[in-house]
Amino acid sequence: MNEQDRSDQGGRQPPPHRRRPRYQGTHPKSYAQKYKEHHLAAYPEIEAHLRAKGITPAGTHVPILVEEVMACLAPRPGEVVVDGTVGYGGHALEFIQRISPGGKLIGLDVDAAELERTRQRLGAAGVHVNLYRSNFAGLAKILRQERLDGFDIIFADLGVSSMQIDNPQRGMSYKHDGPLDMRMDDRLQETGADLLHRLSEQDLAQALRVLADEPDHEKISHLIVARRAVEPITRTAQLIRLVFEAKGLNPKTWRQQQRDARSHALHPAARTFQALRILVNDELGALRELLRVAPYCLRSGGRIGIISFHSGEDRLVKQSFRDGLRQGVYEAVAEDVIVPQREEVHANPRSASAKFRWARIGATGRPKRA
Ligand SMILES: C[S@@+](CC[C@H](N)C(=O)[O-])C[C@H]1O[C@@H](n2cnc3c(N)ncnc32)[C@H](O)[C@@H]1O
Repeated sequence: MNEQDRSDQGGRQPPPHRRRPRYQGTHPKSYAQKYKEHHLAAYPEIEAHLRAKGITPAGTHVPILVEEVMACLAPRPGEVVVDGTVGYGGHALEFIQRISPGGKLIGLDVDAAELERTRQRLGAAGVHVNLYRSNFAGLAKILRQERLDGFDIIFADLGVSSMQIDNPQRGMSYKHDGPLDMRMDDRLQETGADLLHRLSEQDLAQALRVLADEPDHEKISHLIVARRAVEPITRTAQLIRLVFEAKGLNPKTWRQQQRDARSHALHPAARTFQALRILVNDELGALRELLRVAPYCLRSGGRIGIISFHSGEDRLVKQSFRDGLRQGVYEAVAEDVIVPQREEVHANPRSASAKFRWARIGATGRPKRA
């Protein structure tokens, strides 16, 4: 959390007194019980304690690769930046500090609930931003709405925020039981449970293989189809049990695997959850559209930077930037992928799979039409 993040919470009143949620033992375990983490302004010592242990407090998000992003995209006073995935506002605050005075930050996010909280947080920090509930695939429309000739910087930090992962009600995590929702945008028609119910065995297997490199894609999709004929799969715990069964594991053998790998083993259900979440939110479709329209939405000399979290996304970004360079759309692109330093991964393990790439439009201009 940066200085401004901290100061936006510093002036707030402690939350109204409510009876402490009861939990067993000395530490709250579930997301809802972590009431101190949800009110960090009133409990600053909790934040310092958790961050020192590399834990992201519930209801917050630690921005990733901040120094690298700022160094490569080089925001300057007076520039217009669109943060296509504003999330908790961590990167947005860093951009704002660098484009002031005279700059403008436009923030997009599809998650209405988190966007509202971020609006309040950024408002309390005394900064002016224009926030839209919008998919970044609709970037060209935002440009028209803002009556701008282009953005100087387009930035996206793909995937889900810690707030979304940690909240069991969003159904994105294999760590806690919750409804299999998985939508970042609650206007979407189909949840994860709906997709598990509708897709054919073949389509499920393909999604698990292509979107998450799941080695047991056939076994898992076969079991999903067999199990859903008996009862609908609507909870994260059901899906986790099913994946364990398909892989011939049980909690005891999994714990042993974790011990053998010194807890670095990937959770058996991680790939299944990733594939389903990407499908529910059409994450690759949105990224393809962003990459397609970005050059038309950038001003001369404009920069685009994207942080991705799995190979499917990174491949699309790398290919698009390289094609753009070859065709003369971009004048320069990142030669190598940029990944977090060991210290960052230690301090924030969620940054471990992050990959950052950037590209720059030539000073003489951009292509003509979206
Ligand atoms: C990794 S978080 C961003 C965190 C942010 N950079 C920060 O420092 O707080 C990703 C955010 O992007 C949003 N998101 C994901 N895909 C999106 C899309 N296609 N369009 C707009 N927002 C999206 C998610 O709802 C989530 O809030």
